[in-house]
Amino acid sequence: MNTQILSTSEYDIALAGKILAGGGLVAFPTETVYGLGANALDETAVKKIYLAKGRPSDNPLIVHIAEKEDIIPLVKEVTPTAKALIDAFFPAPLTIILPKSEKIGNVVSGGLDTVAVRMPQNKTARALIKAAGVPVAAPSANTSGLPSPTKAKHVIEDLSGKIDAVIQGEDCDFGIESTVITLATDTPTVLRPGAVTKEMLEAVIGRVEIAKAVLEGMASDEVAASPGMKYKHYAPKAKVILVNASKERYEQFVNSKKDAFALCFEGDDVAIPKVTYGNESDDLSQAKEIFDALRRLDDMGAKKVYARIPRKSGVGMAVYNRLIRAAAFHIIDLEKPFTIGLTGQTGAGKGFVGEYLSKLGFNVLDTDIYARKICEPNSPVLAVLAAEFGNDIIKDGSLDRQLLASRAFSSPENTAKLNSITHPAILELCEKDAVFPSVLDAPLLFECKGDKMCYRTIAVLAPFELRLERIMKRDGITRQQAIARMNAQQGEEFYIKNSDFTVVNDGRNIENQINEILEEIL
Ligand code: TXA
Ligand code: MG
Repeated sequence: MNTQILSTSEYDIALAGKILAGGGLVAFPTETVYGLGANALDETAVKKIYLAKGRPSDNPLIVHIAEKEDIIPLVKEVTPTAKALIDAFFPAPLTIILPKSEKIGNVVSGGLDTVAVRMPQNKTARALIKAAGVPVAAPSANTSGLPSPTKAKHVIEDLSGKIDAVIQGEDCDFGIESTVITLATDTPTVLRPGAVTKEMLEAVIGRVEIAKAVLEGMASDEVAASPGMKYKHYAPKAKVILVNASKERYEQFVNSKKDAFALCFEGDDVAIPKVTYGNESDDLSQAKEIFDALRRLDDMGAKKVYARIPRKSGVGMAVYNRLIRAAAFHIIDLEKPFTIGLTGQTGAGKGFVGEYLSKLGFNVLDTDIYARKICEPNSPVLAVLAAEFGNDIIKDGSLDRQLLASRAFSSPENTAKLNSITHPAILELCEKDAVFPSVLDAPLLFECKGDKMCYRTIAVLAPFELRLERIMKRDGITRQQAIARMNAQQGEEFYIKNSDFTVVNDGRNIENQINEILEEIL
């Protein structure tokens, strides 16, 4: 098929309208993204959209109208809530879902009993719908799964030869698809965030929910509120990884990467090849550029891309929603105080792993050392301990560790009391001293909830006999004593269950095991 490239002239729009009325496919600009239109009332024409895009047939299309009142014949009823939204926003980057009328066929609605309706702002789009004389079904004019098209050239890249015509208009103003809100549920629910934000909607109709899948993705057994939620989306060929980090931390992180690209904000000081998507504090600029940026990364041959995360509020929520899908929900969280939490059984050789991480440039914070620091003479923790366990645990200003231990370990309640005083103080001090990238080295990592402050956790394990030997040698104690000490601690299953990764330190290739983990998580 030869795809005609049309202009936005009156003559060309009239021609495009005829193509639509005659059952053909025309791609056209809107203020959000380019749409691929067909006569919404002609099921044969609508089927061609699915074919050209390679779109799953259960993913319904948005029906576009030229005037507000054109929604009336398409839905069962224009409810008061719908009317309020239409009056406040239409024409807008906003799509409203309502129970459908019998005019809407099963192909457009993907077999659902609801229909999605939008009245675009873009002049060309509205003139085209008017010229067609029918409502126009139009998904984004890209190949299913790829980033949405915000420039005519994106449409041509994806669909040339598969559709009748493209109206070559201006680049899209907003750059991300419309906000989709369903009014077919008890509480109006945003199924896809866009430039019309939750706050803007709530100002008009009161409480609005955000579907869980918007920010979190879906469990494999979950039924999608919107079929579009369950499909792969916006993904470039490159593997995209989202990095939750401040400007400085992000720069430091990506500048240590080889063979990777950065997808960052203007002004980020990045030494590897980069593509920017707008300004950090201007979410509309991010929306406008994100899809083009993803396509440019592919043009540049990027294989791995570290993308700086946008903020999740306002229009940023919509940008985040697109990016997290482009990244298939892969996030590195460098905003946690510690990059890695390191723990393990006594005698397993956690210290050796800590030393290796330190050699690799990690800043290792050993909680055993901090446990002493918080009890230095005149420290506030010392005063609290004295009030709890007796003033005589302080001798000449210093802590009598043995006396404290004898009291604190006399009962599980007392031990818990001790921990509730010391653990938070230790973590607080470690956090203060943490310099990115850091390791929290803690024998009781999970018990003190330090794992919650770490991006990922690693537990070091070793065979029983090996640990036994190491402990006897290290502490100069008998076999019996060592076994008693080992039995007082958590078993292997505890560490396997709670940690993200385990390594086995039995003298062989521990470095390789660590390298593999670092490769995977960073
Ligand atoms: O900005 C936009 O909305 C663009 C331009 C062209 O108007 N269109 C667009 O269409 O983004 P599309 O097909 O790429 O995305 C429509 C989304 C899909 O996620 C689909 O599952 C959802 O809306 N949707 C459509 N009808 C629905 C319905 N009846 N119930 C639930 N979700 C629906
Ligand atoms: Mg789409």
